[in-house]
Amino acid sequence: MARILAVGIATLDIINQVDVYPPEDSEVRALAQRRVRGGNATNSLVVLSQLGHDCAWAGVLVDEPDAAPILAELDRYRIDYSHCRRLARGKMPTSYILHSRATGSRSIVHYRDLPEYDLEHFRRIDLETFDWVHFEGRNPEETEGMLRHLRTQRPDLAVSIEIEKPRPGIERLFPHADLLLFARDYAWAQGYADAAALLRGVAAQAPERDLVCAWGEAGAWALDRDGGEHHSPAFVPPRLVDTLGAGDTFNAAVIDARLHGEDWSASLTRACRVAGAKCGREGLHGVN
Ligand code: ADP
Ligand code: FRU
Repeated sequence: MARILAVGIATLDIINQVDVYPPEDSEVRALAQRRVRGGNATNSLVVLSQLGHDCAWAGVLVDEPDAAPILAELDRYRIDYSHCRRLARGKMPTSYILHSRATGSRSIVHYRDLPEYDLEHFRRIDLETFDWVHFEGRNPEETEGMLRHLRTQRPDLAVSIEIEKPRPGIERLFPHADLLLFARDYAWAQGYADAAALLRGVAAQAPERDLVCAWGEAGAWALDRDGGEHHSPAFVPPRLVDTLGAGDTFNAAVIDARLHGEDWSASLTRACRVAGAKCGREGLHGVN
């Protein structure tokens, strides 16, 4: 069991399940509705907790009613939120999600009007107790400050950063990570048509890092720090039920595999297996 800190967000996800994704300007009735905790960093922690790790979250929590289901779930998975920045006023970020029963796809409209987690709060964390720190790559300037601080305190600590979408200045974080976890949206925005091409392009900018890129139903690719290229196909479940959080599950399973000392080929296969199994069930409960 490792002690893992993740820096990133928690959201309230309002998930409407529909038969098929509706045409624009239509009116449809949802088949079911769920209001659950979401957000990349806390999604990954919920999976890591089920994989047996001791997890802590550093993010922003507002004292308002929408925080209740979020806190209840963090408690359920024994995720420590004592390092969070607590605000007396404001709203937790919300995502309005259309989940298509026909394809398992999830379309997300995310709304956020909240300050980001900051260096001032990160500095208060005792990093000595952690084996791994994972960052949801957001707010590059402040995050770079956290990474510099982390390296002065714990030069040896394993650090991963998720690079999900293009954000101005996000590339400045690359040199600070041991492991960079890319998503398709980032690759597309950089003009790459596939994961392997993105990883080769990034390796030129960030040498001596392990680089991973997930690519939905095509599986995932890695380019390790020694230049080795690896690929795992996806593991398609018998029925594609729900792809929300597949990438966050994949990232958690990569971290878990690396903590267990698996090589890159085995790590990718394991992460695709866990993420594929997640796509075969609703939500993140029972994913391990
Ligand atoms: P995100 O949730 O960030 O959009 P991806 O769609 O890239 O992430 O998926 C992450 C991982 O989840 C993939 O590498 C794959 O292993 C698994 N996965 C995603 N979609 C499917 C699918 N339709 N069938 C099986 N596995 C999937
Ligand atoms: C899934 C997810 C949702 C959340 C959204 C935030 O990866 O974390 O739970 O609403 O993305 O961007």
